[in-house]
Amino acid sequence: MSPRPERPGSPRARLFVALDPPDDVRDELARWRDDAISGRDDLRPVAPEALHATLVFLGYRPEKEIDRIGELIGQAVGGHAAPLLAARAVKPLPPRRPRLFALDLDDAGGEAVALQASLSDALEAERIYKPEKRPFWPHITLARVKRNAIAAPWDGPPPPGADWRAAAVTLYRSTLRPQGALYEPLSRNFLLTTRLR
Ligand code: 2AM
Repeated sequence: MSPRPERPGSPRARLFVALDPPDDVRDELARWRDDAISGRDDLRPVAPEALHATLVFLGYRPEKEIDRIGELIGQAVGGHAAPLLAARAVKPLPPRRPRLFALDLDDAGGEAVALQASLSDALEAERIYKPEKRPFWPHITLARVKRNAIAAPWDGPPPPGADWRAAAVTLYRSTLRPQGALYEPLSRNFLLTTRLR
């Protein structure tokens, strides 16, 4: 047999842009989440450092575009306030036979929606991104359902209630692995997080 031909084209990276919570919020969310799912064997928790709110999922893009994408993100983020977010509730997705459980975020000031729209427009203008038809939903995936498992409903204490400002907008590379995707930050834009009250 002849060897499998190399896939044509340039090397590609699976990319997405996400809002990072500040470290203390990430830690608190991870502790609360771990407590809520302790003892369950139907779920795979998302690693604490991988807790994020995806803004745009770019899919596989040529690696040579990464620098340009980073520049576009920097321009789009500039001038935006750090979104003020708060946990609302845990949602199963899809509701009937969930593949994951996500934390629904309240974006009361609409700052995450505005930031997402700026990013989407900037990346679409250069044909790097095709916006999704469904509206943007600010959320943080907490745990994924294991393959072949049927998940029991989410249980446990309510999520931490305090609001917090997103810390950064990060371009991530996602590498799919059997034990779960690895998310590697490629470039990061820190947001002004001064509390206004
Ligand atoms: P999710 O957490 O709601 O699954 C990396 O895969 C990140 O991109 C995840 O946070 C994931 O959101 C998000 N994402 C959005 N659209 C996606 C898609 N079509 N395929 C895979 N991940 C997607």
